[in-house]
Amino acid sequence: MQKLIINGGKRLGGEIRIQGAKNAALPIIAACTLCGGEIILHNCPRISDVYSAMRILTYLGCKVGFEDKNHLSVKAENISVNDIPDELMREMRSSVFFLGAVLGRTGKCRITLPGGCDLGPRPIDMHISALRKMGVTIREEFGVLDCTAEKGLRGAKINLSFPSVGTTENIMLAAVLAEGTTVIQNAAREPEISDLAGFLNSCGAKISGAGCGRIVINGVEKLHSCEYTIMPDRIVCATYLSCAAAAGGELVVSGCRPADMESIMNVFEQMGCIVHSAADKIYFSADHPLKAVAPIRTMVFPGFPTDAQAVLMAALCKAKGTSVFVENIFENRFKHVGELCRMGADILVEGKVAVIEGVERLYGAKVCAADLRGGAGLVTAALSAEGVSEISDIHYIDRGYEEIEKVLSSIGAGIARE
Ligand code: EPU
Repeated sequence: MQKLIINGGKRLGGEIRIQGAKNAALPIIAACTLCGGEIILHNCPRISDVYSAMRILTYLGCKVGFEDKNHLSVKAENISVNDIPDELMREMRSSVFFLGAVLGRTGKCRITLPGGCDLGPRPIDMHISALRKMGVTIREEFGVLDCTAEKGLRGAKINLSFPSVGTTENIMLAAVLAEGTTVIQNAAREPEISDLAGFLNSCGAKISGAGCGRIVINGVEKLHSCEYTIMPDRIVCATYLSCAAAAGGELVVSGCRPADMESIMNVFEQMGCIVHSAADKIYFSADHPLKAVAPIRTMVFPGFPTDAQAVLMAALCKAKGTSVFVENIFENRFKHVGELCRMGADILVEGKVAVIEGVERLYGAKVCAADLRGGAGLVTAALSAEGVSEISDIHYIDRGYEEIEKVLSSIGAGIARE
């Protein structure tokens, strides 16, 4: 079992480059199964969820591998099977994207329910009802979904009851090669949706409106090869800025998209941090004490993202005053709170609300990651704590962060993997 050992209390300083976005890379990798020729994905993060997606591609009969550092090559000329075994489905939530993609390519798909971080119930009922509208017959037995589009997939008008990110992406994947036009009303507007549309359009798809609440997909006969650069990860960017806010210091972040992060930047400014952005860079500086902020409610984009809740909460543990988070997207996304309290934080959780009373000091402690972003929150807090922290179960963190200890060491953090 690997651990991160963090010697806290060191000011951070320097420049880092932001990795490609996990939540853009995963649906795009699944989308490669829809394409005839070779796909080259640049800026693809080397994280464990990407390796899980690569295992599914290999199982389906594709050739996939990193050419060098972050360039992934996928050849999906031959898809030999259309079932995905339970052990691969369970590795991550994003295995569900293969449902839309494999159905789109072969008209059939047999999967079990996807795994992923336990953030409370994560049903796929909206994915299923959308695919049914597109002509897919879905039989559900003992956790196995047997899906067939006997007469082929056909375009449909789909109104989402909630702008679910994964459902919007799965419909897009199923619709690009379907017959006719699909319209998604109340679609998710997260930047990763636009990145998936950008990739599919580079392969010859006809998608308009991505990034707005109404997406129109005109089905085409086939998709061709392309090279595509995956967008930067806005949550990883928020994490490293939170680390600098918590520990204090000056950071230049390059290769990011500040325009996607306004709701997060606003919180850092309320904390008293200085944030300047220019094109693809953020210049950031934080001095203590930080200030508590107005209540933060997690929301769909362009609201404050649920994925940034844990890292910002960790940075606010020592801010002067009281801060409040209301978690509106997932039912069980405060699992880091108990661990932050072991480090001396003063946080009260009542249902979907967490109240943080700023404390003078955090202390190093032995803590345990329970999900990806919560784990990153523990790293953030440990960097601002006095003494040594030991974070276990870091396989959660590795799902989404590329060599987190190397990035943080490069800006002066006392962090090592054991
Ligand atoms: N929901 C349903 N039924 C469905 C689909 C979703 O009830 O069929 C509910 C979920 O249970 C949840 C809410 O709708 O309460 C939002 O779910 P959504 O579908 O929008 O999220 P997701 O696609 O499962 C993606 C990201 C998450 C991120 C959320 C919200 C990927 C691979 N995952 O999940 O990322 O938190 O959108 O922005 O894109 C992470 O990176 O740590 C992470 C969890």
